[in-house]
Amino acid sequence: MNEVKWLESAVFYEIYPQSFKDSNGDGIGDFNGIIEKLDYIKDLGCTAIWMNPCFDSPFLDAGYDVRDYYKAAPRYGTNDDMKRLFDEVHKRGMHILLDLVPGHTSWEHEWFRQSCKAAPNPYTDRYIWTDNTWEAPEGMNALIGISERVGACGVNFFSHQPALNYGYYRPHKPWQQSTDSPGAKATLEAMKDIMRFWLKAGCDGFRVDMAHSLVKQDEDSKGTIALWQDVRAFLDREFPDAAMVSEWGEPDKSLQGGFHMDFLLHFGPSHYNDLFRCEHPFFGGGGDASEFVKAYTANRDKSGGKGLMCIPSGNHDMTRLAKYIHGGRRKIAFAFLLSMPGAPFIYYGDEIGMRYVEGLYSVEGGYERTGSRSPMQWDDTANAGFGSSPADKLYIPLDPSPDRPTVKAAQADKNSLLNEIRKLTAIRAAHPALQSRGDIEFVYCVKNEYPLAYTRTGDGEKILVVLNPSDREVSFPFAQALGDAIYTYGDHAVRSDGKVTVKPQSAGWYRVADA
Ligand code: GLC
Ligand code: CA
Repeated sequence: MNEVKWLESAVFYEIYPQSFKDSNGDGIGDFNGIIEKLDYIKDLGCTAIWMNPCFDSPFLDAGYDVRDYYKAAPRYGTNDDMKRLFDEVHKRGMHILLDLVPGHTSWEHEWFRQSCKAAPNPYTDRYIWTDNTWEAPEGMNALIGISERVGACGVNFFSHQPALNYGYYRPHKPWQQSTDSPGAKATLEAMKDIMRFWLKAGCDGFRVDMAHSLVKQDEDSKGTIALWQDVRAFLDREFPDAAMVSEWGEPDKSLQGGFHMDFLLHFGPSHYNDLFRCEHPFFGGGGDASEFVKAYTANRDKSGGKGLMCIPSGNHDMTRLAKYIHGGRRKIAFAFLLSMPGAPFIYYGDEIGMRYVEGLYSVEGGYERTGSRSPMQWDDTANAGFGSSPADKLYIPLDPSPDRPTVKAAQADKNSLLNEIRKLTAIRAAHPALQSRGDIEFVYCVKNEYPLAYTRTGDGEKILVVLNPSDREVSFPFAQALGDAIYTYGDHAVRSDGKVTVKPQSAGWYRVADA
């Protein structure tokens, strides 16, 4: 597999296209709006973009319900506008991943309409159907009573997202197909065609939605791993530079499947939420990081010491970071995010501390996620500079608070989170040890104690990262002398008697001599 060089030093910015920048005043973000703001993203020190699905869709799950994979959703622009976005990204030396949703389509997709027909046709086996209307596929919700065809169709997420058929790992019912059945193989080839189309158009790769979920009843993921290996082999032949990042949460499996990097998931066993989003988050100053570190280390060991797990500041599925982490502690949280292996992902607006907007009605299947998807706040003009539509035409209402943060105010304040992140990304860019592939070793992490300390090593350099979001002065044993600080927030750490002592609410990245 090709190493994708740019990925190793990448810092991503996640763009939720409907909420980023509306260039034509219809209340919804669009490609031209994103183009207008690329310099802003670059200036933040982000080198790459992950754009959420932007394909034709009835938008019952904000675009994760694709109706036509080959067509940009008209509300964002045309395919040509999207290509122009790719060009503008590349002109700035940046890269862009599209969001591939291979597990399911919208129930309005033409494949599904054909698949619902009683008469056999090329799409009969495109989705997971049982042969009995009253029997749902085991372990799945199903659509029943909507087709001329006899059978129930499995769904992956919402009821309008029928599951595509990539086969069962060990089929044991007559309607279950194997992964090498013609139907399952045709689905995979169709997905490769889609990837081919957008890679030819100029995108740099894909973030893959629910990548772990394709082959059914695949407990050890062997079938799904083999499927992605097949995809990687195709990419190596035709698009060796295509970058692949999975929403999977088990790097030992996804990396075997040929993904370059895997996301740390905010649900499941990762303990990510212990750090950022729980009653007492670690970065809130009174929590625990030890379970997170345990799970992180186990995953890292299982994947051969590769730390290629991407840790996001947030995303369109979780409550905003700013709800739980306040003030200067947000800077400490970013000093963590930007010093961990794997590519960090910054969710749009987190860099200015955008808030979770409470009390909104659900928009496009957002439900409780809607409050994390509100329009980006650029400045103090109408609609916070998001666009010129009437306020009631906005895709999601803006944060109504009079003191809502904006990019303009953050840029003007030299102590803002935004300017701190610019500093952090610049330092990360200058030190390969801090980037994706640098080694990590946890130095101090004790249950319910502070600080969290680890070293990052690479390219002949070793850097000690110390994070103390608590209100206490704390210390930990450390055998080596501290060299110069490449970054500090709050007071500088002090080393004496074999111990490093750090002040309340401080963070630092220090050079250490490699022993
Ligand atoms: C992923 C997406 C989420 C979507 C779901 C179903 O988890 O991040 O937004 O609703 O998949 O496609
Ligand atoms: Ca628009």
